[in-house]
Amino acid sequence: MSIELTWLGHATWMITHGPHKILLDPFLNDSPTAPVKADDVDADFILVSHGHFDHVADVAEIANRCNSMVVAVFEIAEWFSKQHAVKNTIGMNIGGSLSLPFGSIKMTQAIHSSQLPDNSYGGVAAGFLVMIEGKTIYFACDTALYSDMKLLGQKNIDIAVLPIGDLFTMGPRDSVAAVNYLNAKQVLPTHYNTWPPISQDAAAWAEMVKAGSTAEPIVLEPGQSHLID
Ligand code: NI
Ligand code: MN
Repeated sequence: MSIELTWLGHATWMITHGPHKILLDPFLNDSPTAPVKADDVDADFILVSHGHFDHVADVAEIANRCNSMVVAVFEIAEWFSKQHAVKNTIGMNIGGSLSLPFGSIKMTQAIHSSQLPDNSYGGVAAGFLVMIEGKTIYFACDTALYSDMKLLGQKNIDIAVLPIGDLFTMGPRDSVAAVNYLNAKQVLPTHYNTWPPISQDAAAWAEMVKAGSTAEPIVLEPGQSHLID
């Protein structure tokens, strides 16, 4: 059964596999590039990478409507539970793994900040390795390039989803260095073209990936999906 990876604009991704729907960092209602609204999506699991508004905005609404399990760093899981009455949360932390009905995840380091929208402390920013049916997908989430990505390169990553917007995260050139550290077979760009300060030329980025690595770049438009067989 194939795994479907759909870009919902900005840093929001939906993974579907059979009956499982896993949503990452839902930012839909206020995103200028989201192809759907929060009302249009449902999810069994919502993974949250850090506390910034462009990653947490629609988490509570979707979780409370769909009874989703919210998985985040401990402080953010607590915040959703206490401030937004989210019933099902799992708090974890960097380096921890978790088995879930669809497979497993591992929370990875991200070099970024993580204050929540009401100025609550959001712990540290994270990324995720998502393992489903023998495939490994790495969501770097909001991060700078860091050399310990070399350690993740030993994890047999099939697909890396990397930010290329620059300014708040790594930019296109650093993402090519990341692909090499990660040894990923395929790479998809994220966290770009939402607003002018993070606009990037995805076609030029793809050429840079082809010239500078062995990974296959895959550029989606918001709303498009990539099938992982
Ligand atoms: Ni951020
Ligand atoms: Mn962000």
